[in-house]
This record gives sequence, structure tokens and C-alpha cells, in this order.
Amino acid sequence: MNNAWILYNEHEYKKNQFFIETFIETMAERGVELSLFLNGNCKNMGINEIKKNEKPLFVINRTRDYRLSRFFETNGIMVFNNSIVSEIANDKWNSYLFAMDLKIPVLETNLLNQVQKEKITYPQIVKKRIGHGGNDVFFIETLEQLNSWAENRDESQYIIQKAVQTGKDVRAYVLGKRVVVSFLRENNNDFRANYSLGGTAKTTTLSKDQKNIIKKIMTGLNLGLVGVDFVFDSGVPFFNELEDVVGTRMIYEKTNINIIKEYANLIMSKVGESR
Ligand SMILES: Nc1ncnc2c1ncn2[C@@H]1O[C@H](COP(=O)(O)OP(=O)(O)O)[C@@H](O)[C@H]1O
Ligand SMILES: [Mg+2]
Repeated sequence: MNNAWILYNEHEYKKNQFFIETFIETMAERGVELSLFLNGNCKNMGINEIKKNEKPLFVINRTRDYRLSRFFETNGIMVFNNSIVSEIANDKWNSYLFAMDLKIPVLETNLLNQVQKEKITYPQIVKKRIGHGGNDVFFIETLEQLNSWAENRDESQYIIQKAVQTGKDVRAYVLGKRVVVSFLRENNNDFRANYSLGGTAKTTTLSKDQKNIIKKIMTGLNLGLVGVDFVFDSGVPFFNELEDVVGTRMIYEKTNINIIKEYANLIMSKVGESR
């Protein structure tokens, strides 16, 4: 039996039990024994460890650490999502530069330590470059508020961008070169529409503009499973972010789609092609 690895951070694997167990079962049905490794264990993993454990057929990296992915890739092991996707998606500044390169519509964004704070119009949204789940996203109404917020913070770790329509975004789940399903996510009690923060979600169809943005991303990157998120300014969609370690709870709660099965099929076909 082939073996493969799924990597998680220590503090995150527990709340992802369903995803992990379903993936293990689904891969077993395809003749692959998928084992869970926690990040703490693979940080120090060298090539000898890989040999000792037998070289995995592929790795699913759910740690957000692209350096781990790169390590496996340089040892000839395919990683999902690959290290390039991970490096771009897990840093909001990298994602912004990537989108600008592809001429994808984005909100004007700056690094907080480079912006002239007196010259921008408020409200603004400040976000930690490596943040996720809405945890490090702040709604800033005035220059004074920004100045006091920024005290004792490393400004180079944050981006700042114009605040547009709050409490609403669209998440498209993209698998390889296909959009599987999209959701309109809303929250009336919070400016952040993240489902994990108690927002609502219902399936939606994408506009032509949104589809075009996704097409550009698909040509720029070799995707496994990602989320592509949009925010809206006066009804016009703008690329907001790419989610590498995308959660699937919303799909299982709201649809009959077995996204893990579909992802497993994509992985098996990509691994097959490379052999
Ligand atoms: N520029 C913005 N204007 C208005 N709302 C925003 C803006 N940026 C983000 N938001 C809201 O905050 C939520 C979280 O921000 P996001 O950039 O997706 O960070 P995270 O990676 O933590 O989810 C988004 O889903 C959206 O609802
Ligand atoms: Mg988000």
C-alpha cells in the first residue's frame, strides 16, 4: 500500500478531525494509507526521516507553512497545495502583489509601515499579513484610532486597505481548474463575513467578472483545493484573498457535495500523471 501524509499544526488538528478522518478513509478506498503528522514533528524532519518513514506518495500540507512544502518538493514529493500557492495565499501582501501582476481587480492596499496615514481616507481595514479566520482584521474609523491601534505593533506585519461593503463576501471553492461551489457569506453583527465567526452562508452563482478573476488565478497557479474570496465596492467584486488551508464545513453543512472525495480524486490523478 502506498503511503501519504497530511500535516497539521498541533493546535489545529483537533477541530479538523472530520476533515482528517474523512480524508484518511477516502484515501484508503484509493489504496493509499494517509497518516497524520503534526507540524512540531515535521519541522525537524530531514531527508533521512523521509527515508525511514518511506517516501510518501504525496503530502497534504494544512499548516500554512510553505517552507515545509518546498522541502518536500525539492525531494521530489508532490504537495497539495503546492508551495507557490501556499507562499502567495498565506501572506495577504504577497496575494495582493500576485493579483496586481495578473491585472486582477483589487482594493488599493499598502503595507501599514509604508502608507502615509494622514493622506488616506477613513474608514480603512487593517489586516495581519499572515492572519486567517478573521482573527487579525480590524475596522479603523479614524487616523487617531489607527495611531493608537498601531502602538506596540510591528506595522510591517500588516496591510491597510480601503473599507468597502462590510459583513458580506463571496467564497468560491476552486478545485484544480474547476469551481465546485460558491457561497454568499453575510453577517449583520460583524463587519467580517467569515462563517467561523457566526456569519450565514448560502450558495450563490458567480458573475462573469468573478469567473474571469478565477480564470486568471487558475492560469497563474497550479491549484489543488483553494478558496477564492471576493469583497464588494458598490456591487463590484474585488479579489480579496486566496485561502490555501480552506475549511470545508460550510460545504458539508449546506450542500450534498463530497468535496473531500473530489479532492482525493484530483490528487490521485495529479500524482498519477507525474509518474
Ligand atoms: N476592505 C474591506 N472592506 C470591508 N470588509 C472587509 C474588507 N476586507 C475584509 N473585509 C471583511 O473581513 C473579513 C475577513 O477579512 P479577510 O481579508 O478575509 O481576512 P481573513 O483571512 O482573516 O479571513 C472578510 O471576509 C470581509 O467580510
Ligand atoms: Mg477571509
